[in-house]
Amino acid sequence: MKSDLTKSGAISLTNGDQSFEFPVFKATHGPDVFDIRSLYRQTGAFTFDPGFTSTASCESKITYIDGDEGVLLYRGYPIDQLAERSNFIEVAYLLLNGELPDRQQRENFDHSITMHTMVHEQLKNFYNGFRRDAHPMAIMVGVVGALSAFYHDSTDINDPKQRLVASHRMIAKMPTIAAMAYKYSIGQAFVFPRNDLDYTSNFMRMCFAVQAEDYEVNKTLSDALDKIFILHMDHEQNASTSTVRLAGSSGANPFACIAAGIASLWGPAHGGANEAALNMLEEIGTVDRIPEYIRRAKDKDDPFRLMGFGHRVYKNYDPRAKVMRKACHEVLDALGVREDPLLQVAMELERIALEDEYFVEKRLYPNIDFYSGITLRALGFPTDMFTVLFALARTVGWIAQWSEMIEDPNQKIGRPRQIYTGAPRRDYIDIGER
Ligand code: CMC
Repeated sequence: MKSDLTKSGAISLTNGDQSFEFPVFKATHGPDVFDIRSLYRQTGAFTFDPGFTSTASCESKITYIDGDEGVLLYRGYPIDQLAERSNFIEVAYLLLNGELPDRQQRENFDHSITMHTMVHEQLKNFYNGFRRDAHPMAIMVGVVGALSAFYHDSTDINDPKQRLVASHRMIAKMPTIAAMAYKYSIGQAFVFPRNDLDYTSNFMRMCFAVQAEDYEVNKTLSDALDKIFILHMDHEQNASTSTVRLAGSSGANPFACIAAGIASLWGPAHGGANEAALNMLEEIGTVDRIPEYIRRAKDKDDPFRLMGFGHRVYKNYDPRAKVMRKACHEVLDALGVREDPLLQVAMELERIALEDEYFVEKRLYPNIDFYSGITLRALGFPTDMFTVLFALARTVGWIAQWSEMIEDPNQKIGRPRQIYTGAPRRDYIDIGER
């Protein structure tokens, strides 16, 4: 990646009678940044920013979010246009390469991904090592990490060709690995990929076909899932992406880095939220119980939060949630589900929360996970597969971000510092004298 950091001014910092100057860089969109890389050298002090709420950890050209306005752009293109008009393969190409492909480029990329969908036969043995009731995310962390033990010819991160092959391999194999995790958990035989199907239809078939009966992919449903994948593909420097970058900054191989990203995504405050949101809607069950849950969410002494509400960056309606809400209705209509009680609860909960002073004041809006659970459940996926689907789609973003980092001339190993507030230096005391 060519660095486009351009100085647009300077900021000075005063500490007593000392003054220090730092460059200011201009962003294409969004806030400027103060370049404090020389802060410690100049002042002997660190900045303190747990959770990185005011810290830009890297330069990136991939994704832009304006949380106040509710905007999400992939390589400059608004997410709603991509979700409505494009498809998985094209958006994956865009994220990885920076531009939309022409016909030939799309065909070549599609072909390369399709040719990598099968997994090494021995990889299947890993599944047998897991308990039958293992969470599929546990399987994903293990099996994706294990890919580095199978594809030695694409683990040299200094070779651009190997990086490309590893990238295509992971995007191609993720649906196969995810579908195998699902099949294993329900005690069914693995279904091989079929190269005549598109990326998302192939995944659905690997999940829902059985030996005794093939699965006919419903185009409306696979289009909806394709849309869901596009919405989840990238989200700039979130926890899992930062994890992938941090793991990669030490020179770890890409398969290990993506496994680290999957582990980070698993948490309920991140990728696990769609599962948590659906569980919450099920727990609420009926519209008349909503006020009780709103009350609990507002109670400082109650740890309960409205899952699928609020976001670190979006302080407006999550632009992905708008597309997701529409896709949810499309799926339920296609399946002829007119009166899904969970959808009724979700819509009423959303209406009440959006009018409630607590949520309005804190700018808590529905996020993508609020409607994705209902949609995925309607598509036939059990709740513990939801985060796996998120991981499958986010793999594209992780890889794009990892590649960008490797090519960044300013890249260094990630090594945050701390403010130490523990015991001052003291001498060891023998056990008998303590
Ligand atoms: N329900 C009730 N109160 C909430 C909620 C919620 N869902 N979210 C935030 N708040 C309150 C919180 O209690 C705090 O109140 P106060 O200022 O009085 O202490 C205030 O809003 C700010 O919350 P925060 O935790 O400091 O904000 P954050 O930016 O650290 O957290 C969040 C963001 C997403 C972790 C949080 O909103 C949350 O836990 N939401 C529920 C989980 C969820 O839906 N996560 C999915 C995120 S979208 C998927 C993705 O992009 O990964």
